[in-house]
Amino acid sequence: MISTPWPMSLARDADGQLSVGGIRIEDLLGEYGSPLLVTDEDDFRARCRAYRHAFKGATIAYASKAWCTTGILQIADEEGLWVDVVSGGELLTAQHAGVPMEHVVFHGNNKSVTEIELAIDAGVARIVVDSLEELHRIEAVGAKRDQKVTCWLRITPGIDAHTHEYVRTGHDDSKFGFSIALGLAEEAITVALELDHIDVVGIHAHIGSQIFGTDPLVANVDTLISLLASWRDRHDITLTEVNIGGGMGIRYTHEDHPVGVGRYGDAVNDALAAARGRFGYPDVALFVEPGRALIGPSTLTLYTVGTVKTLPGLRTWVSVDGGMSDNIRPALYQAEHEVIVANRQGSETMVPMTVVGKHCESGDLVRERAPLPDDVRSGDILAVAATGAYTASMASNYNRLTRPAAVLVSDGESRLLMRRETMDDVLSRDVSLR
Ligand code: LLP
Repeated sequence: MISTPWPMSLARDADGQLSVGGIRIEDLLGEYGSPLLVTDEDDFRARCRAYRHAFKGATIAYASKAWCTTGILQIADEEGLWVDVVSGGELLTAQHAGVPMEHVVFHGNNKSVTEIELAIDAGVARIVVDSLEELHRIEAVGAKRDQKVTCWLRITPGIDAHTHEYVRTGHDDSKFGFSIALGLAEEAITVALELDHIDVVGIHAHIGSQIFGTDPLVANVDTLISLLASWRDRHDITLTEVNIGGGMGIRYTHEDHPVGVGRYGDAVNDALAAARGRFGYPDVALFVEPGRALIGPSTLTLYTVGTVKTLPGLRTWVSVDGGMSDNIRPALYQAEHEVIVANRQGSETMVPMTVVGKHCESGDLVRERAPLPDDVRSGDILAVAATGAYTASMASNYNRLTRPAAVLVSDGESRLLMRRETMDDVLSRDVSLR
């Protein structure tokens, strides 16, 4: 699959206007309004299939935190993926989507007792235990129901994934999981084996997100098999499920060069075979849980330009009708998403412009110094790349902006995924004191 920051079906018509899924963007905005998230359904399905193909025989679980909305989960389910959830809310969304609970994995570093009960009663496939306290909480819920709970232990393998500090999770000083180096993993398995209502069948380690090379993932596989082999020798148990998390990076701009899914799959499969060979470990069921790499590049955001302000000798500011409330990533991680003019070709002279949102905050960036045609003007439409992951799912009502609609496009047809939020929706939570 060709890796670009854009959905496969993105095309520019003879008059310079973009279309996605065979629909011109002005027609989409005419029907659904601006700003708008547009998901190329075929592109998303193709990425789901590419992962299943590359990690032959593995179970691919869609990390729903990337974008947890009913329609997206239904497509993931139709493509044969499991779904990973990290809260009661994500779990209930999967249930609402009709995802079979035996295909759901429940994560989280601080699950409440209510969430644990919800997950067990719903019949999720696996609960990923993150701490000793949680192990005892799950044991208590299992005991009350006289039921054994099928679990994985979340391992912190001590691998630094060289990505943004906020999305690193594999190093020892992390809020997630049981560190091997600090002895917590050993303690966790020892305690778990003594509990009557905990059935540990495997281990999980997610080392971080937006990872560009295969080395950290290979190291992760190696560390996990070596841990399982040590438990076999020390505790006489042979766990047969290994989940290596997600984290495969994507292109947000043409300057990003992540490894393609085929190479990820080959590298992991090879590492698994090598590690099993080295430790004489039997076959294990592999689980991979990508989020960003599946939904990220399938989706773009369309914004309308409101004002263009040129400060001579300084820069040009282009303000659009959304911003950090619908995509917090540039403000939070200094993330860069490619931006192009979508309604026309524009001048051939490209100049750096700073695209910003409409929030009352200077950090409200869409893209710092995006190369854009020098004739960008009010009323133009901008398309922002790779906004399917961690945008809608992290959206807010900052400054009382309503959250945008999202549509699915394919073959000249569009379907709503999420309707535009209204001010009635927003005000419905307010309680008047008058
Ligand atoms: N599994 C676990 C346990 C995770 O914590 C995550 C992501 C994934 C899988 C999926 O990772 P992915 O394949 O999407 O990289 N908001 C940040 C990303 C946070 C990632 C959180 N965990 C961003 O916008 O970059």
